[in-house]
Amino acid sequence: MNKKVYIGMSADLVHPGHINIIKIAAQYGDVIVGLLTDGAIVSYKRLPYMNYEQRKAVIENIKGVTQVIAQDTLDYRPNLEKIKPDYVVHGSDWRDGVQAQTRQQVIGTLAKWGGELIEPDYTQGISSTKLNNAIKEIGTTPDIRRARLRRLVNAKNVVRIMESHNALSALIAENIKGDNGIEYDGFWSSSLTDSTSKGKPDIEAVDVTSRINTINEIFEVTTKPMIYDADTGGIAEHFAFTVRTLERTGVSAVIIEDKTGLKKNSLFGNEVAQTQDSIENFCHKIEVGKRAQATDDFMIIARIESLILEKGMDDALTRARAYIKAGADGIMIHSRQKSPDEVLEFCEKLRNENKDIVLVVVPTSFNEITATQLSKAGVNIIIYANHMLRAAYPGMKKVAKMILENDRSFEAEKELLSIKEILDLIPGTR
Ligand code: SPV
Ligand code: MG
Repeated sequence: MNKKVYIGMSADLVHPGHINIIKIAAQYGDVIVGLLTDGAIVSYKRLPYMNYEQRKAVIENIKGVTQVIAQDTLDYRPNLEKIKPDYVVHGSDWRDGVQAQTRQQVIGTLAKWGGELIEPDYTQGISSTKLNNAIKEIGTTPDIRRARLRRLVNAKNVVRIMESHNALSALIAENIKGDNGIEYDGFWSSSLTDSTSKGKPDIEAVDVTSRINTINEIFEVTTKPMIYDADTGGIAEHFAFTVRTLERTGVSAVIIEDKTGLKKNSLFGNEVAQTQDSIENFCHKIEVGKRAQATDDFMIIARIESLILEKGMDDALTRARAYIKAGADGIMIHSRQKSPDEVLEFCEKLRNENKDIVLVVVPTSFNEITATQLSKAGVNIIIYANHMLRAAYPGMKKVAKMILENDRSFEAEKELLSIKEILDLIPGTR
């Protein structure tokens, strides 16, 4: 019997480095590729451009590959224990850095049956980072962008979405990375911040055409997916057109809230007059939206205002059940309490009866709970709904005042992005 050779790979942007590894592996025996699933990949880096099935189709057809199986974790050990390969082949570039520990585990596991690790020299001159940047520059298509949100929800413990009210704030959400390596997964088109940045109240006065203009500007320079805040969605007949427009543009999901009449921002709670829609009417709107939908990827998420309007937990849960039955792909539960308790109670109760529904929260008021804690409570998507605009405004106001009070801009300079930095901020300015 031929010897068994195992290679773990993501194989998103396949380049000569991959071919080199496979060629070398094939000299030792039958090559089994453990292809990392989307879930395994997002545990340590961004979601691949191609989904698992697409990547599998490519690798299966490369000369020298005998078999492709799924590797569900970054950790090789479960697959190695199953297959007991004689060899594992991996480029020498994993000796230091994030993968060093995985490498040690591979060596330790292979030793149990006398297996051996082979580490060909890393292929120079090819950088996945450079390939990735090139792809970002080319941009994306509406179809690819739209599908990304569902893929992210399926692959990740928690999806983090940042409010973006224009292209510049979206570029921050597209590119920023925490020192912990975590990135935002996409954008929130907030009715509050899109209206506010246009100097208008958050009462559905900025129409869909104008909102779509903002989104087009954002989409022109970014690749990540977007969730759209459609307020009440308007009347059902109009909502059908909004769904089609959003899908065509490449938006991944729409959230509609179960309020009616002149909509006011939820964070007012009962301080202003707000009326909740009837379950029947709102279910009808969801059904009309779902019927209008042209693609499988798009999601309609129903937002429940019962806790905001102090109607109680039972009302919130009754509505969630009805909205899910009407076809909603997800439920957003909103709250304006400082404590996350009511949201956590809702999540626990809903998760107990429904494992699959996409759960969304907007922790603006209950801001002490972490994304990781919310994820443990069953939340799939967390939206930071207004933070880019709220960060920008105090900075602008402070500088405007300083210039008046000093009768010159010299003192304000230390508060500002330097001229050199702003000229270099956007590629192509120079
Ligand atoms: C928005 O961002 O416009 C929202 C969330 O709808 S909230 O402001 O909390 O109602
Ligand atoms: Mg809103």
